[in-house]
Amino acid sequence: MATSTATLLFACIAVSLFTYSNGQQVNVTIFTESQCPFCTRLLREQVWPFHATRPGIANIQIVPFGKGNCELAYENRLSCTCMHGQTECDLNRLQNCAISYFPKKHLGLVTCIQGLKTLDEAVERCLARLSPRTQQRLIQCASTQTGEVLNYYSMLNTHRAGIRIWPTAYVNGQFFDRSYPLEQEICRHTDWC
Ligand SMILES: *[C@@H]1O[C@H](CO)[C@@H](O)[C@H](O)[C@H]1NC(C)=O
Repeated sequence: MATSTATLLFACIAVSLFTYSNGQQVNVTIFTESQCPFCTRLLREQVWPFHATRPGIANIQIVPFGKGNCELAYENRLSCTCMHGQTECDLNRLQNCAISYFPKKHLGLVTCIQGLKTLDEAVERCLARLSPRTQQRLIQCASTQTGEVLNYYSMLNTHRAGIRIWPTAYVNGQFFDRSYPLEQEICRHTDWC
C-alpha cells in the first residue's frame, strides 16, 4: 500500500514537472545509418549517456536510414538499398521497428543495435531481455515489408531534410556541428542543465 502510494505520488510529481517545464525541453533530431562509425560513436558516447544521466531534458528523435534508396519492386514490394549494404538495411529496419514499437522508450535499444555486425548479433545482444513475444514481433517487423515501409518513411524524412552526411544532428531545428559535445549544445538551450 505504502509503496503504491509513493509510486503514484512520484508519478504525479514527474508528470507536473514535465508539464510545467515543457517549454524548456530541447528537441534533438539525429539522422543516422546503422553501420557508420561516427553515428555509432555519437549514439554510444554522447546521445545515450546524456539521456541516461539527464533524462527528460532532450526530446530525442533518431532517424535511421542514411544514404540509400527505396523503390517499389516486383508485386509492389518496397525494396531499399543502403550505403553499407544489406546488413545496414537489416539493422536500420530493426532500429525503425524498435522506434515504432516503443515510441517513448527506444533509445537504449536503438543505441544497442547501432554499429553491430549482423541482425543475428543484434537480436542476441539487444533483444534478449525483452519478452519472447516482443522479440518475435520485432524480428518479424525487421525481416518483412513492415520494417521496409518504416525504412521508407525514414528515407523520406532524410531526403526532405536534405541530409548528405551521417550523422547529422539538429538541436531545436538548428544544425549541430559535431566537433563539440552535444551535451554542451543541448544545455545551451535550456536552464535544466
Ligand atoms: C519541439 O518540438 C515540439 C513538437 O514538435 C514543438 O511543439 C516545439 O515548438 C519544439 N520546441 C522548440 C524549442 O523548437
